[in-house]
Amino acid sequence: MPIKTNIKIQTNKTYKMESHKLLLFAFSGMFLFNTVIYAQSPSVIIKLDQPGFAVPSKLYGLMTEDINYSYDGGLYAELIHNRSFKDNSMSPEHWALVKEGEAKGKISLDRHNPVNEILLVSLQLDVQNAGTRIGVANDGYWGIPVRPKTTYTGSFYAKATKSAPLTISIESIDGKTVYAKALTKTLGREWMQYQLTLTTAADITPTANTRFVISTTDSGKYWVSQVSLFPPTYNNTPNGNRPDIMKLLADMKPSFLRFPGGNYLEGDYFSSRFDWKKTIGKLDQRCGHQSPWGYRSTDGMGLLEYLMWCEDLKMEPLLAVFAGYTLKGDYLDDPNLLQPFVNEALEEIEYVIGDQSTKWGAVRARDGHPASFPLSYIEIGNEDGFDRSGSYEKRFNQFAASIRAKYPQLKIISTVGGKNDWLSGRFPVPKGNPDLIDEHFYRNSIEMQEMASLYDNYDRTGPKIFVGEWATREGFPTTNFNSALGDAAFLTGLERNSDLVLMHCYAPLFVNINPGGMQWKSDLIGYNALTSFGSPAYHVQKMFSQNLGDQVVKFETSNLPTQLKKPSARDSATGVQPKVIPAMFFSVTKNAKAGIIYLKVVNSTPVVQKVKLDIQGIANISSKATAITLKAASTDDTNTIAEPEKIIPATTTVKGLGKHSEQSFPAYSITVLQIRTK
Ligand code: AHR
Repeated sequence: MPIKTNIKIQTNKTYKMESHKLLLFAFSGMFLFNTVIYAQSPSVIIKLDQPGFAVPSKLYGLMTEDINYSYDGGLYAELIHNRSFKDNSMSPEHWALVKEGEAKGKISLDRHNPVNEILLVSLQLDVQNAGTRIGVANDGYWGIPVRPKTTYTGSFYAKATKSAPLTISIESIDGKTVYAKALTKTLGREWMQYQLTLTTAADITPTANTRFVISTTDSGKYWVSQVSLFPPTYNNTPNGNRPDIMKLLADMKPSFLRFPGGNYLEGDYFSSRFDWKKTIGKLDQRCGHQSPWGYRSTDGMGLLEYLMWCEDLKMEPLLAVFAGYTLKGDYLDDPNLLQPFVNEALEEIEYVIGDQSTKWGAVRARDGHPASFPLSYIEIGNEDGFDRSGSYEKRFNQFAASIRAKYPQLKIISTVGGKNDWLSGRFPVPKGNPDLIDEHFYRNSIEMQEMASLYDNYDRTGPKIFVGEWATREGFPTTNFNSALGDAAFLTGLERNSDLVLMHCYAPLFVNINPGGMQWKSDLIGYNALTSFGSPAYHVQKMFSQNLGDQVVKFETSNLPTQLKKPSARDSATGVQPKVIPAMFFSVTKNAKAGIIYLKVVNSTPVVQKVKLDIQGIANISSKATAITLKAASTDDTNTIAEPEKIIPATTTVKGLGKHSEQSFPAYSITVLQIRTK
């Protein structure tokens, strides 16, 4: 007898029809809709009586690079844009002349009065008539964030032809409202660095419609260089990070930080790679560099700042070292020419883990951090599948051999040799015996849902897997709920296969949502100058990472709802056929000591799913469980700077648990069920 089955298509109409017609119907609509085919009674059997395996200690981590104004204009709390006047060699971008009353003067870049061998350019203010006031204004990274009762610290180099002080202020864009003001000491004819503090009043309304102004009421010539202004930072660290974004990250409980890239590691050219030695030491010794993402990085976020960021959030650094290949395709495969870069990587590792008796450990101590940092993983390069010359094999082997000779305890990651990722899979596993292979996946939601089973049948005889970049790419600048569903489905697969996939990290992490802030669509955390928010995908990462336990538990599912994955344009071109895939996804882990089972359930169907839940191999199940649920009315729903908490997890108590029960999972939802066994 034909089974009656409900199907739903994206018109939001539900049809009842017989199963033999269903297939025809589904396929006829496949180029238009992702059809959901409902099953009768999904069921899950959790098998606590069968041996599981330990959850790897570093399964959830973060990936970072300077993209989308991640550091300058993002996490790194510097407020002055183009602080050292290097962003544009022709004009002082982000700086403007401020004139009031009869004021007359001009500003220009000056290369004849360097502060030092790094700060070669300064901004000259040539005042013929100071009028009521004349000066220079910086527009910040889409404004200077002003909050009540807040103290800002700043510094800049200055000199003048006149002995006069300068006035520093944070003010409204029209200059009519001054939020904070301070006066420097009298300037001299030689460069001096001036420190300043500015405090706002208690009664102001937060705003970023502001500018930072350095002004005078005296005629003459003035020069300024490396102008810097910081709000309060996380842990009040000098040259530190934005507290709101650090808090979002801390809530994700990340165990490692992959840095400094990504493309940012490689650079477009050898000269614009992440040249770590140029990112350490005093700020006036950091030249900054052109990032491949289309803007200049100050390198205020340098190697030591990355490491201290790790320390602050109790993450272990996962250091990617430049491996002699750049994004524009230059590479070095001559061992003699490559060796200086291998040495550079060895020195970088010494800066991280060497004690103070080592050359680079001593430099780190000089830079303010006597203690070394933990380090277990080194990645050699980034996405070297793009190097079609095939030079990675030699480059990897040379780096790996030298690193292992000096630091045998380190695990080495190769960027090629994967089986699932087309890019990493372009070349075989290097002979130099990598411990892990880095695979990257950027896909749409249905593809990520299909990829929940990617590692289920993966050959487990080779190196372990590091999914070093991945994201479901729907919605921008931060992703929408459909992406959250794709991410959550994929994550269930990573957790289930974490005997093989030891680590993963989403990318990109950050985006400044202002116009021009985004270079890569689909990001996890968005912000402007004043506030920040997590996408639905961010909340998935947080929910999953916070509810991980220490053992992966075996389970079986049956009778799951399914959906039709229509072929993408690329799939169609290569003959890929439509495919029926599950529309619910599960992962089970436990914390045996605490007596908690974590059941993660992703329901990507537009209806409530009632799931039969059997728990085998345990005497007691508490009848009450805690459910943490993320859901949305529509898959297009998302969080924005205006509605930052439209989709956030809700915690409820679920009753009626036992060895056999039935649990309901809302339409379009991601649930973590904390089941207590004590
Ligand atoms: O995450 C954005 C970019 O994607 C990374 O820089 C690069 O590694 C990948 O191609």
